[in-house]
Amino acid sequence: MKPLLSMVVVACCLATGCARPGSDKFKEPSPIEALAVRDILLDPAAKSRSRGRNVFKHYCSICHGDEGKGDGFNSTNLTVPPRDFSSPEFWRRTADEHLLRTVSRGGLAVGKSVLMPAWGHTLNDRQMRDTVAFLHTLAAEGEPTADDSCRPTGLP
Ligand code: HEC
Repeated sequence: MKPLLSMVVVACCLATGCARPGSDKFKEPSPIEALAVRDILLDPAAKSRSRGRNVFKHYCSICHGDEGKGDGFNSTNLTVPPRDFSSPEFWRRTADEHLLRTVSRGGLAVGKSVLMPAWGHTLNDRQMRDTVAFLHTLAAEGEPTADDSCRPTGLP
């Protein structure tokens, strides 16, 4: 084996611990982890929601709160509080297209507070759809959530 190649093999082994199913170092995923991974691999909508969760955590939760209840770290500085995305009332009267428009163009463009920024220059279309798809998961358990027009159509 050439020296460079063998160094790469050793480095890979160190990084992964050379773990294989059946070996001592391989940690079987818990049933819940395995189900989550399976859902994400098989279900493009789950994949979309999962990407949306990351966007939400990064850009939105500071105002909207980790669970979307409008209680993020920054919410005390906002004269108009962000909506509670877990509220049944909110989902009864809100369609995805409205949410997308608000996220893309900001509060002012849809007659709401300017304190809700416009994200259309920061996020691409898919990221905004993913985020809206994720918002649905914040609805209180068992609540129907408006329409499903944000379901992805098999995007990678
Ligand atoms: C600087 C704080 C802040 C950040 C960051 C922020 N928002 Fe908002 N958002 C608000 C406020 C305040 C409102 C309420 C506006 C109103 O009701 O007049 C709002 C409203 C909304 C609404 C409309 C709800 C309705 O009543 O129709 C959506 C959807 C929304 N935000 C999504 C997001 C998403 C997605 C992100 C991240 C990409 C985000 N927001 C980031 C402050 C923020």
